[in-house]
Amino acid sequence: MEIVRTVGEVRDWVSEQRKHGFSIGLVPTMGSVHSGHLSLVNIAYNYVDIVIASVFVNPLQFSPQEDFDQYPRDETMDAKLFEAAGVKLLYIPNKDEVYCKGHSTTIHIGPLNDDLEGQFRPHFFVGVATVVTKLLIQVNPDAAIFGEKDFQQLCIIKKLVKDLDICIQIIGGKTVRESDGLAISSRNQYLSDQERILARELYAGMQSLNKHFQSLEEIDGACDDLKGSLLKAGFSAVDYLVIRHAESLERLVSPAKPMRILGAAWLGKTRLIDNLCF
Ligand code: PAJ
Repeated sequence: MEIVRTVGEVRDWVSEQRKHGFSIGLVPTMGSVHSGHLSLVNIAYNYVDIVIASVFVNPLQFSPQEDFDQYPRDETMDAKLFEAAGVKLLYIPNKDEVYCKGHSTTIHIGPLNDDLEGQFRPHFFVGVATVVTKLLIQVNPDAAIFGEKDFQQLCIIKKLVKDLDICIQIIGGKTVRESDGLAISSRNQYLSDQERILARELYAGMQSLNKHFQSLEEIDGACDDLKGSLLKAGFSAVDYLVIRHAESLERLVSPAKPMRILGAAWLGKTRLIDNLCF
Protein backbone atom coordinates (compact mmCIF):
# COMPACT_ATOMS: atom_id res chain seq x y z
CA MET A 1 0.00 0.00 0.00
CA GLU A 2 1.32 3.42 -0.94
CA ILE A 3 0.82 6.52 1.20
CA VAL A 4 0.51 9.95 -0.43
CA ARG A 5 -0.14 13.36 1.06
CA THR A 6 -0.84 15.75 -1.80
CA VAL A 7 -3.66 16.24 -4.30
CA GLY A 8 -1.15 16.04 -7.17
CA GLU A 9 0.12 12.63 -6.02
CA VAL A 10 -3.40 11.22 -5.65
CA ARG A 11 -4.39 12.45 -9.10
CA ASP A 12 -1.25 10.97 -10.71
CA TRP A 13 -1.80 7.64 -8.95
CA VAL A 14 -5.45 7.47 -9.97
CA SER A 15 -4.77 8.37 -13.59
CA GLU A 16 -2.10 5.63 -13.71
CA GLN A 17 -4.69 3.07 -12.50
CA ARG A 18 -7.23 4.36 -15.02
CA LYS A 19 -4.73 3.66 -17.83
CA HIS A 20 -4.98 -0.02 -16.82
CA GLY A 21 -8.78 0.21 -16.92
CA PHE A 22 -9.25 -0.14 -13.15
CA SER A 23 -12.26 1.38 -11.41
CA ILE A 24 -11.65 3.23 -8.14
CA GLY A 25 -13.49 3.35 -4.81
CA LEU A 26 -12.90 5.88 -2.03
CA VAL A 27 -13.46 5.37 1.70
CA PRO A 28 -13.10 8.75 3.45
CA THR A 29 -12.34 8.61 7.19
CA MET A 30 -10.93 10.67 10.02
CA GLY A 31 -8.66 7.77 11.00
CA SER A 32 -8.55 5.96 14.33
CA VAL A 33 -9.49 3.04 12.12
CA HIS A 34 -11.87 0.37 13.43
CA SER A 35 -13.87 -2.51 12.02
CA GLY A 36 -16.67 -0.15 10.90
CA HIS A 37 -14.22 1.64 8.58
CA LEU A 38 -12.76 -1.66 7.37
CA SER A 39 -16.23 -3.00 6.53
CA LEU A 40 -16.57 -0.10 4.08
CA VAL A 41 -13.37 -1.20 2.33
CA ASN A 42 -14.83 -4.70 1.96
CA ILE A 43 -18.09 -3.34 0.59
CA ALA A 44 -16.17 -1.15 -1.87
CA TYR A 45 -14.55 -4.23 -3.40
CA ASN A 46 -18.02 -5.45 -4.45
CA TYR A 47 -18.21 -2.43 -6.75
CA VAL A 48 -14.69 -1.43 -7.82
CA ASP A 49 -11.24 -2.86 -8.64
CA ILE A 50 -9.13 -0.67 -6.38
CA VAL A 51 -9.87 0.99 -3.04
CA ILE A 52 -8.33 4.21 -1.78
CA ALA A 53 -8.87 5.30 1.84
CA SER A 54 -8.34 8.80 3.13
CA VAL A 55 -7.54 9.95 6.64
CA PHE A 56 -8.16 13.59 7.43
CA VAL A 57 -9.40 14.98 10.73
CA ASN A 58 -11.38 17.81 9.22
CA PRO A 59 -11.17 20.98 11.37
CA LEU A 60 -14.16 22.51 9.55
CA GLN A 61 -16.60 19.99 11.06
CA PHE A 62 -15.56 20.63 14.67
CA SER A 63 -16.70 23.63 16.67
CA PRO A 64 -14.11 25.31 18.95
CA GLN A 65 -15.50 23.55 22.06
CA GLU A 66 -15.48 20.08 20.44
CA ASP A 67 -12.79 17.39 20.50
CA PHE A 68 -10.65 18.29 17.45
CA ASP A 69 -7.36 18.38 19.43
CA GLN A 70 -8.27 15.34 21.47
CA TYR A 71 -9.55 13.28 18.50
CA PRO A 72 -7.56 9.99 18.49
CA ARG A 73 -4.82 9.92 15.83
CA ASP A 74 -2.56 6.95 15.06
CA GLU A 75 -1.28 7.04 11.50
CA THR A 76 0.92 3.94 11.81
CA MET A 77 -1.91 1.76 13.11
CA ASP A 78 -4.36 3.21 10.55
CA ALA A 79 -1.96 2.35 7.72
CA LYS A 80 -1.44 -1.18 9.05
CA LEU A 81 -5.17 -1.88 9.34
CA PHE A 82 -6.07 -0.39 5.96
CA GLU A 83 -3.27 -2.28 4.23
CA ALA A 84 -4.39 -5.59 5.78
CA ALA A 85 -7.95 -4.84 4.57
CA GLY A 86 -6.73 -4.46 0.98
CA VAL A 87 -6.52 -0.68 0.59
CA LYS A 88 -4.06 0.11 -2.22
CA LEU A 89 -3.54 3.82 -1.62
CA LEU A 90 -3.83 5.77 1.62
CA TYR A 91 -4.31 9.50 1.17
CA ILE A 92 -3.35 11.54 4.24
CA PRO A 93 -3.41 15.23 3.34
CA ASN A 94 -2.56 17.86 5.91
CA LYS A 95 -4.74 20.85 6.69
CA ASP A 96 -2.96 23.20 4.27
CA GLU A 97 -3.32 20.69 1.44
CA VAL A 98 -7.09 20.53 1.92
CA TYR A 99 -7.69 24.17 2.82
CA CYS A 100 -5.39 26.50 0.94
CA LYS A 101 -4.63 29.92 2.41
CA GLY A 102 -7.73 32.10 2.13
CA HIS A 103 -10.05 29.16 1.47
CA SER A 104 -13.62 30.36 1.96
CA THR A 105 -15.94 28.31 -0.26
CA THR A 106 -18.28 26.01 1.63
CA ILE A 107 -21.20 23.74 0.79
CA HIS A 108 -24.57 24.16 2.52
CA ILE A 109 -27.03 21.58 1.34
CA GLY A 110 -30.28 23.18 2.54
CA PRO A 111 -32.85 22.21 5.20
CA LEU A 112 -31.33 18.81 6.12
CA ASN A 113 -28.23 20.77 7.15
CA ASP A 114 -29.95 22.28 10.18
CA ASP A 115 -32.10 19.31 11.24
CA LEU A 116 -31.31 16.67 13.93
CA GLU A 117 -27.49 16.57 14.20
CA GLY A 118 -27.35 20.00 12.56
CA GLN A 119 -29.51 21.48 15.29
CA PHE A 120 -27.01 20.47 17.94
CA ARG A 121 -23.84 20.87 15.83
CA PRO A 122 -24.68 23.82 13.52
CA HIS A 123 -21.20 23.91 11.89
CA PHE A 124 -21.03 20.14 11.36
CA PHE A 125 -22.66 19.37 8.02
CA VAL A 126 -21.19 22.42 6.27
CA GLY A 127 -17.80 21.03 7.31
CA VAL A 128 -18.65 17.49 6.23
CA ALA A 129 -20.26 18.52 2.91
CA THR A 130 -17.34 20.80 2.08
CA VAL A 131 -14.58 18.30 2.83
CA VAL A 132 -16.37 15.37 1.18
CA THR A 133 -16.98 17.44 -1.97
CA LYS A 134 -13.30 18.35 -2.03
CA LEU A 135 -12.17 14.75 -1.48
CA LEU A 136 -14.49 13.53 -4.25
CA ILE A 137 -13.13 16.16 -6.65
CA GLN A 138 -9.53 15.48 -5.63
CA VAL A 139 -9.67 11.69 -5.96
CA ASN A 140 -12.46 11.45 -8.57
CA PRO A 141 -13.40 7.85 -7.77
CA ASP A 142 -16.18 5.85 -9.45
CA ALA A 143 -17.78 5.15 -6.07
CA ALA A 144 -17.44 6.37 -2.50
CA ILE A 145 -18.63 4.40 0.52
CA PHE A 146 -20.07 5.86 3.75
CA GLY A 147 -21.52 4.22 6.85
CA GLU A 148 -25.20 4.12 7.75
CA LYS A 149 -24.03 4.68 11.32
CA ASP A 150 -24.01 8.38 10.38
CA PHE A 151 -27.24 8.14 8.44
CA GLN A 152 -27.95 11.85 8.13
CA GLN A 153 -24.39 12.38 6.88
CA LEU A 154 -24.97 9.67 4.25
CA CYS A 155 -28.21 11.40 3.14
CA ILE A 156 -26.43 14.73 2.89
CA ILE A 157 -23.63 13.27 0.79
CA LYS A 158 -26.12 11.56 -1.55
CA LYS A 159 -27.94 14.87 -1.88
CA LEU A 160 -24.88 17.00 -2.58
CA VAL A 161 -23.68 14.59 -5.26
CA LYS A 162 -27.09 14.72 -6.92
CA ASP A 163 -27.51 18.49 -6.60
CA LEU A 164 -24.01 19.28 -7.88
CA ASP A 165 -24.06 16.71 -10.74
CA ILE A 166 -21.03 14.90 -9.35
CA CYS A 167 -20.94 11.63 -11.26
CA ILE A 168 -19.81 9.36 -8.41
CA GLN A 169 -21.90 6.52 -6.96
CA ILE A 170 -22.49 6.88 -3.22
CA ILE A 171 -22.86 3.56 -1.42
CA GLY A 172 -24.07 3.06 2.15
CA GLY A 173 -22.60 0.38 4.44
CA LYS A 174 -24.44 -1.28 7.34
CA THR A 175 -23.46 -0.26 10.87
CA VAL A 176 -20.90 -2.55 12.49
CA ARG A 177 -21.63 -3.17 16.18
CA GLU A 178 -19.92 -4.54 19.29
CA SER A 179 -21.35 -7.83 20.56
CA ASP A 180 -23.68 -5.95 22.94
CA GLY A 181 -25.06 -3.82 20.08
CA LEU A 182 -23.09 -0.59 20.64
CA ALA A 183 -22.25 0.95 17.26
CA ILE A 184 -18.48 0.95 16.87
CA SER A 185 -17.04 4.46 16.87
CA SER A 186 -13.62 6.08 17.26
CA ARG A 187 -15.11 8.07 20.14
CA ASN A 188 -16.10 4.96 22.15
CA GLN A 189 -12.58 4.92 23.58
CA TYR A 190 -13.48 8.08 25.55
CA LEU A 191 -16.01 6.03 27.60
CA SER A 192 -15.14 4.98 31.17
CA ASP A 193 -15.74 1.30 32.04
CA GLN A 194 -19.03 2.18 33.69
CA GLU A 195 -20.16 4.37 30.79
CA ARG A 196 -19.21 1.62 28.35
CA ILE A 197 -21.60 -0.79 30.12
CA LEU A 198 -24.39 1.80 29.98
CA ALA A 199 -23.69 2.68 26.35
CA ARG A 200 -25.47 -0.44 25.06
CA GLU A 201 -28.78 0.95 26.32
CA LEU A 202 -29.05 3.42 23.44
CA TYR A 203 -29.30 0.73 20.77
CA ALA A 204 -31.22 -1.66 23.04
CA GLY A 205 -33.75 1.12 23.65
CA MET A 206 -34.06 1.80 19.94
CA GLN A 207 -34.70 -1.89 19.29
CA SER A 208 -37.44 -1.88 21.92
CA LEU A 209 -39.30 0.73 19.83
CA ASN A 210 -39.58 -1.64 16.89
CA LYS A 211 -43.30 -2.27 17.23
CA HIS A 212 -46.57 -1.44 15.56
CA PHE A 213 -47.65 2.15 16.20
CA GLN A 214 -51.23 3.33 15.64
CA SER A 215 -50.61 7.07 15.63
CA LEU A 216 -47.95 9.79 15.58
CA GLU A 217 -48.88 10.66 19.19
CA GLU A 218 -48.07 7.10 20.19
CA ILE A 219 -44.68 7.38 18.43
CA ASP A 220 -43.88 10.68 20.16
CA GLY A 221 -44.91 9.17 23.50
CA ALA A 222 -42.67 6.12 22.99
CA CYS A 223 -39.70 8.35 22.07
CA ASP A 224 -40.27 10.51 25.17
CA ASP A 225 -40.49 7.37 27.35
CA LEU A 226 -37.22 6.04 25.94
CA LYS A 227 -35.56 9.42 26.48
CA GLY A 228 -36.74 9.32 30.09
CA SER A 229 -35.47 5.81 30.70
CA LEU A 230 -32.04 6.61 29.19
CA LEU A 231 -31.71 9.60 31.52
CA LYS A 232 -32.85 7.46 34.44
CA ALA A 233 -30.30 4.78 33.52
CA GLY A 234 -27.47 7.32 33.76
CA PHE A 235 -27.18 9.10 30.41
CA SER A 236 -26.28 12.74 31.06
CA ALA A 237 -28.44 14.19 28.26
CA VAL A 238 -30.37 13.16 25.19
CA ASP A 239 -29.97 15.65 22.33
CA TYR A 240 -32.73 14.06 20.24
CA LEU A 241 -34.55 10.79 19.85
CA VAL A 242 -37.01 10.79 16.99
CA ILE A 243 -38.67 8.54 14.45
CA ARG A 244 -38.61 9.76 10.86
CA HIS A 245 -39.09 8.41 7.36
CA ALA A 246 -36.39 5.74 6.92
CA GLU A 247 -34.74 7.15 3.79
CA SER A 248 -35.67 10.83 3.43
CA LEU A 249 -35.56 11.56 7.19
CA GLU A 250 -38.65 13.71 6.66
CA ARG A 251 -41.14 14.05 9.50
CA LEU A 252 -43.77 11.32 9.43
CA VAL A 253 -47.27 12.16 8.27
CA SER A 254 -48.56 8.76 9.46
CA PRO A 255 -47.03 5.84 11.36
CA ALA A 256 -46.24 4.01 8.11
CA LYS A 257 -43.11 1.88 7.65
CA PRO A 258 -40.29 2.09 6.67
CA MET A 259 -39.33 4.27 9.60
CA ARG A 260 -35.99 5.07 11.18
CA ILE A 261 -35.32 5.92 14.78
CA LEU A 262 -32.40 8.30 15.19
CA GLY A 263 -30.82 9.39 18.43
CA ALA A 264 -27.91 11.25 19.97
CA ALA A 265 -27.17 11.01 23.67
CA TRP A 266 -24.39 11.92 26.07
CA LEU A 267 -22.60 9.71 28.55
CA GLY A 268 -20.46 12.12 30.52
CA LYS A 269 -18.30 13.90 27.94
CA THR A 270 -18.94 11.36 25.17
CA ARG A 271 -21.67 11.86 22.60
CA LEU A 272 -23.10 8.68 21.05
CA ILE A 273 -25.21 8.64 17.90
CA ASP A 274 -27.06 5.73 16.39
CA ASN A 275 -30.05 4.86 14.23
CA LEU A 276 -32.16 1.86 13.36
CA CYS A 277 -34.50 1.20 10.45
CA PHE A 278 -37.71 -0.78 10.95
P1 PAJ B 1 -15.38 8.83 10.54
O1 PAJ B 1 -16.14 9.07 11.77
O2 PAJ B 1 -13.92 8.45 10.64
O3 PAJ B 1 -16.12 7.73 9.70
C1 PAJ B 1 -15.66 7.37 8.42
C2 PAJ B 1 -16.73 6.53 7.77
O4 PAJ B 1 -16.93 5.34 8.54
C3 PAJ B 1 -18.10 7.24 7.71
O5 PAJ B 1 -18.71 6.97 6.47
C4 PAJ B 1 -18.86 6.60 8.87
O6 PAJ B 1 -20.26 6.62 8.69
C5 PAJ B 1 -18.31 5.19 8.81
N1 PAJ B 1 -18.49 4.46 10.09
C6 PAJ B 1 -18.17 4.90 11.32
N2 PAJ B 1 -18.51 3.98 12.26
C7 PAJ B 1 -19.08 2.95 11.59
C8 PAJ B 1 -19.65 1.69 11.98
N3 PAJ B 1 -19.72 1.32 13.25
N4 PAJ B 1 -20.14 0.87 11.02
C9 PAJ B 1 -20.07 1.24 9.69
N5 PAJ B 1 -19.54 2.41 9.26
C10 PAJ B 1 -19.05 3.25 10.19
O7 PAJ B 1 -17.65 10.23 9.23
C11 PAJ B 1 -16.55 10.76 9.17
O8 PAJ B 1 -15.40 10.15 9.60
C12 PAJ B 1 -16.33 12.14 8.60
O9 PAJ B 1 -17.45 12.93 8.84
C13 PAJ B 1 -15.98 12.13 7.08
C14 PAJ B 1 -17.12 11.54 6.23
C15 PAJ B 1 -14.68 11.35 6.82
C16 PAJ B 1 -15.76 13.60 6.60
O10 PAJ B 1 -14.77 14.20 7.34
